[in-house]
Amino acid sequence: MEIPTLETERLILRPFKADDIDAYAAMVEDTEVSKFISLGGKPMDRLEAWRSMSAIIGHWHLRGFGQWVVEEKDTGTFVGRLGLYYPETWPGPELGYALAQEHWGKGYATEGATAARDYAFEVLGWDDIISIISPVNTRSQAVAKRLGESYREDLNLKGMAVHVYGLTRADWEKLDR
Ligand SMILES: CC(C)(COP(=O)(O)OP(=O)(O)OC[C@H]1O[C@@H](n2cnc3c(N)ncnc32)[C@H](O)[C@@H]1OP(=O)(O)O)[C@@H](O)C(=O)NCCC(=O)NCCS
Repeated sequence: MEIPTLETERLILRPFKADDIDAYAAMVEDTEVSKFISLGGKPMDRLEAWRSMSAIIGHWHLRGFGQWVVEEKDTGTFVGRLGLYYPETWPGPELGYALAQEHWGKGYATEGATAARDYAFEVLGWDDIISIISPVNTRSQAVAKRLGESYREDLNLKGMAVHVYGLTRADWEKLDR
């Protein structure tokens, strides 16, 4: 399939390409980022970063949706990755996001994830979306809430205690967008 590209006010959401590896590897070896995005919470090395990029591309082809690279429109700088994720055994179709630390605090996660959220409901016709978040990841919880999601339940996911946030289509339709 051809992976779509989305545009927001300040960002481009586009497919991964091979030369994203340097920026992506730098992001996922950062313990402040990796502790919340990898099962087990360990920093990824370059091989794991490559595998992760490949899995993100593969997810698009297997599911018809997936995650994008977040790029700063003005500079072309790699900012992070975000989008839709629904591997086998997952509790539900998820909206996820992770940015390199130097790009936190600019509103980029909320801006990009809003476009991904709307893509899920508008283009894919989803009825529901979840975000799986560590109980101590207050920054991520704040993003989920800004997206209109609310806390649903505690869950044990592969040995990790997580909070599930979610947004139904009915509640999405009521949002001031
Ligand atoms: C979770 C994560 C993406 C949140 O990033 P973030 O930068 O805090 O979130 P946003 O992009 O929505 O930015 C919000 C902040 O930008 C500020 N901001 C600055 N300029 C802004 C603008 N023009 N528009 C909106 N917000 C702006 C907001 O005031 C807010 O600041 P605050 O945190 O001091 O309240 C980031 O912490 C991360 O990548 N963490 C590691 C990976 C991770 O945990 N992923 C989630 C797994 S569940």
